[in-house]
Amino acid sequence: MATAIVTGSSSGIGKAIALMLLDEGYSVFGISRSHGKISHPAFHHIACDLGSTRALETIKTDLLGITDLALLVNAAGFGRFEPHEELSPMVIIDMITLNLTAPILLTNLLLRPLKEKQGTIINITSIEAIRSSKFSALYTATKSGLRAFGNSLFEEVRTSGVGVITINPDMTETAFFDDLRFGVGESEDTKLFASDIAQTIRNLLCLRKGVSVTELTLRPQRFGISKKR
Ligand SMILES: NC(=O)c1ccc[n+]([C@@H]2O[C@H](COP(=O)([O-])OP(=O)(O)OC[C@H]3O[C@@H](n4cnc5c(N)ncnc54)[C@H](OP(=O)(O)O)[C@@H]3O)[C@@H](O)[C@H]2O)c1
Repeated sequence: MATAIVTGSSSGIGKAIALMLLDEGYSVFGISRSHGKISHPAFHHIACDLGSTRALETIKTDLLGITDLALLVNAAGFGRFEPHEELSPMVIIDMITLNLTAPILLTNLLLRPLKEKQGTIINITSIEAIRSSKFSALYTATKSGLRAFGNSLFEEVRTSGVGVITINPDMTETAFFDDLRFGVGESEDTKLFASDIAQTIRNLLCLRKGVSVTELTLRPQRFGISKKR
């Protein structure tokens, strides 16, 4: 049974990907702070605050003990969209650590076993990785940094048979917006669902060995946003 590690498996996009992989027959190790109530014999939860590099150190041995690792999905992340001077240094450090440092450290740790299986790394970035938006400077820095990391890493590891896929989703209906002043639009054609991203990854994993999609942007057909009071 091939094994996958999925960060952010407790909610939203990461959870939808973890459930899709379980359905595809993978054994899945999900990393997040809370469990996320996935009940499946092939699902194993590793509790870790990936916003702390020290916490990541404590699960290193567990991660290196995972056998048949074929897939690493970096989905854990959060966003804050405010004037840059209003962000606290703590939020800045936490976002850079979770959205950018943690995926880079996990890749560093797991690249050798992934090379052995000619595996795949999937980084969930954002539409903000490929455009410039007001109040998104910090989030954009983390996501465009992760995008650049993945695209450059592919050039390094392609001869080892390792795939690196960057997914740039537009606004997706998840808990991501719970603490924000805006959310996704009302109608279905103005937003993505987490299942759309999981289904796209399911399709990508079916491609024949030797073909690599390195980057993909998912957008709803129409623009939509809702403002909260
Ligand atoms: N929703 C969107 O519109 C959208 C669009 C483009 C890209 N994205 C990206 O997609 C990814 C998933 O977001 P989502 O929309 O699925 O949001 P979500 O529903 O809020 O899920 C976020 C996930 O990240 C985990 N996480 C947050 N802080 C963590 C920490 N310190 N340590 C470990 N895990 C942590 C959460 O688990 P715990 O809270 O249990 O730790 C949860 O599983 C993020 O990287 C986000 O930037 C989202």
